[in-house]
Amino acid sequence: MFDMIATIFWLIIKASWLMLPAYIANPTAVVFGGGTPIDLGKKWKDGRRIFGDGKTFRGLLGGTVCGVILGFIQMKFNSLHLLGNFTIMSIITLSFGALLGDMTKSFFKRRLGYERGAKFPLVDQLDFVVGAWILTYAFDPVWFRNNFIADPWIMLTVILFTPLLHRLTNIVGYYARLKKEPW
Ligand code: CTP
Ligand code: MG
Repeated sequence: MFDMIATIFWLIIKASWLMLPAYIANPTAVVFGGGTPIDLGKKWKDGRRIFGDGKTFRGLLGGTVCGVILGFIQMKFNSLHLLGNFTIMSIITLSFGALLGDMTKSFFKRRLGYERGAKFPLVDQLDFVVGAWILTYAFDPVWFRNNFIADPWIMLTVILFTPLLHRLTNIVGYYARLKKEPW
């Protein structure tokens, strides 16, 4: 029993460490967001916005830069060989990919007729994981294989733990008046 708890605990620590640049990119995009929307206010063929006012250049840049800065700090721990060694490419693709995933989600949300900020359970919570993983696999396949594919338990932990963490941070963001909705 204790062994199992210790294993799960360790999995959560390692999964969070590996995902940290992506995890930080999302909320810092909220903090730095605002100003010109990425779709420049333009509409898609269906008459709805391409991404909507919730996806801005400042958010995209601010979130990516924060994720990369944190990744650089994490790289200082590479020599510990405990939690996986980051590459410069991996920290960029994890941060930027997270926000690309979030943007892709907004695109589909608008196509489905959801207004900006509308709740989209599970998709809202895993969009950035999928984005971070796909971009990282595309640009740093060796790193992605060594750190994620090689340990499917880590991937499963990320998938199960992220929605929980996401809920928590968004509730905090909501009460800190950074977000309009607590999700
Ligand atoms: N944000 C931003 N730029 C991004 C991502 C987020 O400016 N690339 C900011 C916006 O102010 C946004 C807030 O962070 O309103 C919350 O992000 P999110 O929940 O992803 O967007 P929503 O407003 O909920 O819009 P959507 O319905 O498109 O998800
Ligand atoms: Mg939202």
